[in-house]
Amino acid sequence: MLFPLAARFVAGETADEAIEVVRRLNADGLDATIDVLGEDVGDAPSAARIRDTYAALIEQLHAAGVRTNLSLKLSALGLTFDPALALANFCAILDAAQQALPDPFVRIDMEGSALVEPTLALFRAAFATHRNTGTVLQAYLHRTPADVDEMIALRARVRLCKGAYKEPPSLAIQAMAQVRERYRELALPLLLHGTYPAFATHDESLVDAVRAAATANAVPSSAFEFQMLYGARPELQRRLVAAGYRVRVYVPYGTFWAKYFRRRVTERRENLLFAVGSLIRK
Ligand code: FDA
Repeated sequence: MLFPLAARFVAGETADEAIEVVRRLNADGLDATIDVLGEDVGDAPSAARIRDTYAALIEQLHAAGVRTNLSLKLSALGLTFDPALALANFCAILDAAQQALPDPFVRIDMEGSALVEPTLALFRAAFATHRNTGTVLQAYLHRTPADVDEMIALRARVRLCKGAYKEPPSLAIQAMAQVRERYRELALPLLLHGTYPAFATHDESLVDAVRAAATANAVPSSAFEFQMLYGARPELQRRLVAAGYRVRVYVPYGTFWAKYFRRRVTERRENLLFAVGSLIRK
């Protein structure tokens, strides 16, 4: 019922709607990564449903001919109650993507701090047998510099973001200025030594810092990408494409959109104002 409010940030409730959004983004020179919404799944049949939804999406993408890869959350595949089951579900998705998609890459999103170590452990296990995956590191966590070093050594693809969850000072930097500083510090080794890093942010000061560091170190724009969320700063996304950068838009869809939408509005008050405003203007 609330969906019209979420529609700015969620592509729709069906795969067809998400594919249509990706088609429009592709026409504007943007790449995409599609996420089937769903997290904190508590039983095996629900985790299997999410796995099967990804498999069906992959079938549809095979025929659709759009430029996209996939993102997912391991808690949707059973990580919180059965990591071995989550690994099996995840590897089934990696296999299906490898068989059917021109870009078979499947990114593991990073969730709250309780799931960081289990997520990285499962990522390492999957990466040992499947190269078409990578993960996300959150600049606000104190542990992340060491994780960046590990992922560089593994030659694993990293998406760097600030971090979207409320974490205690013992685990995460609290002040935004310091989170930004840490983000810039971590972006440099990823640019210089990482494997096709992705810089996920709508923060123009960070976008500019990444651009400047790439230019100063002669890192070509084809060696990394920016990533932004569907509905957030569409004009900045297109400006970067016009300037010759690769930009990938995160396109979530599905019926379980409430938690995703809540994160977007608690992150930025203007996101809620924008959603309400666009509802009124309809
Ligand atoms: P932030 O919200 O700090 O904003 C900085 C500036 O950007 C603002 O002052 C404003 O000018 C502008 N701005 C930002 N959003 C805007 C909007 N909607 N409209 C207009 N102006 C806006 N987190 C996580 O924990 N795990 C994950 O796996 C991911 N994955 C992920 C993928 C992608 C593609 C993105 C873009 C982000 C994530 N995140 C994430 C979320 C991330 O950690 C972070 O919470 C948000 O990106 C918000 O931080 P920003 O750096 O984007 O800008």
